[in-house]
Amino acid sequence: MTSDLAATTTPEAFDAVDVIRVKRDHGTLSDAQIDWVIDAYTRGVVAEEQMAALNMAILLNGMDRAEIARWTAAMIASGERMDFSGLSRPTSDKHSTGGVGDKITLPLAPLVAVFGVAVPQLSGRGLGHTGGTLDKLESIPGWRAALTNDEMMAQLESVGAVICQAGSGLAPADRKLYALRDVTGTVEAIPLIASSIMSKKIAEGTGALVLDVKVGSGAFMKDVDSARELARTMVDLGTDAGVRTVALITDMSTPLGLTAGNALEVRESVEVLAGGGPRDVVDLTVALAVEMLAGAGRQVGEDEVRAVLGDGRAMDVWRAMITAQGGDVDAPLPVATETHQVLAPSDGVLTRLDALDVGVAAWRLGAGRARREDVVQAGAGVEIHAKPGDRVAAGQPILTLHTDTPERFARALESAESAITVEVTPAASTPTPLILDRLA
Ligand code: URA
Repeated sequence: MTSDLAATTTPEAFDAVDVIRVKRDHGTLSDAQIDWVIDAYTRGVVAEEQMAALNMAILLNGMDRAEIARWTAAMIASGERMDFSGLSRPTSDKHSTGGVGDKITLPLAPLVAVFGVAVPQLSGRGLGHTGGTLDKLESIPGWRAALTNDEMMAQLESVGAVICQAGSGLAPADRKLYALRDVTGTVEAIPLIASSIMSKKIAEGTGALVLDVKVGSGAFMKDVDSARELARTMVDLGTDAGVRTVALITDMSTPLGLTAGNALEVRESVEVLAGGGPRDVVDLTVALAVEMLAGAGRQVGEDEVRAVLGDGRAMDVWRAMITAQGGDVDAPLPVATETHQVLAPSDGVLTRLDALDVGVAAWRLGAGRARREDVVQAGAGVEIHAKPGDRVAAGQPILTLHTDTPERFARALESAESAITVEVTPAASTPTPLILDRLA
């Protein structure tokens, strides 16, 4: 509701209902209307229900390129902008649109820093079935997500990589808007996703940006055409704002790697930093590192990047990065108290391991939260023992479910069991490539 005080003391430039009607009737919002509606919503003058109606109109009727650019600029203008120009190294960042088992940021940030490029990773917590980078790192005893801007700058200069919580001053309009979209069925609108992600990345002040746009059951975008449209929109927003931006479109029909869950994913990331780890996690980490380095003006080949995972240099930066934020890199990671195995129903080939179902199982086990205020279990999640294309025998473990609260097993099992398809005589098929496209 428009506040009585605001209505009597401050003449507003527009009426929220008129702005909603423009979009409802397939019109184009003017720059002034966009600037006003974002500012007035942040000030509490445009009511939640009015913004919800406008979001739904945007989801249904879309926005053109100029509207999306202005909406993004208005969200950036709602808060502070960071400035890394004083650093002695160039900056490059990565953003993933979110998936199941997506722990890539953890090995990637230290890996890129080895080559003299600073990585300022402002990350978030998980909501729903996709994990959050901060939740994963918080399973390391002592690790602290909240840094001041000065601490962040100092760590970028000394270590070269920082993964921390975005301060509340960065694009505050997005914080409010995202919480509203989450409860009004309006997360999936491409203009709203693109402006939400890019307002934070542009305000963060990175020089280069690589977007990992996920596609498949475990991602926001379920088909490649929508993922391409989202990627194109974000690359254009970044480029127009002077950030060297590229996007990879990557498969999220099955989980990345062999773990989904906070401490489980940290353990797997450390294996990658030690030169091992699952092939898909290593390949995507290396591909994204090559792109991040190129964006920062460093042409480094894949083999050279891969070698740094094997020779201990990325591990050294990881240790320094975690220690600088109070984490004890040598402390044992939390382990859940209870486990339960999901077995192959028959002999055959595992033809499907569905990302969304595995993500929902991990979430139901306690790895994720249903409401922002929920506490996550560090040890909860799903361990994967077979991937699509693998031959399996009846009774062989396919998944191990982990939780501290065994009463969660029943609901998690419903999802875990429906994640799996084993076929005795599968039709010949070519495996889906991990990287489906690249846009610049
Ligand atoms: N991540 C964001 O930051 N915003 C979105 O809208 C979707 C994913």
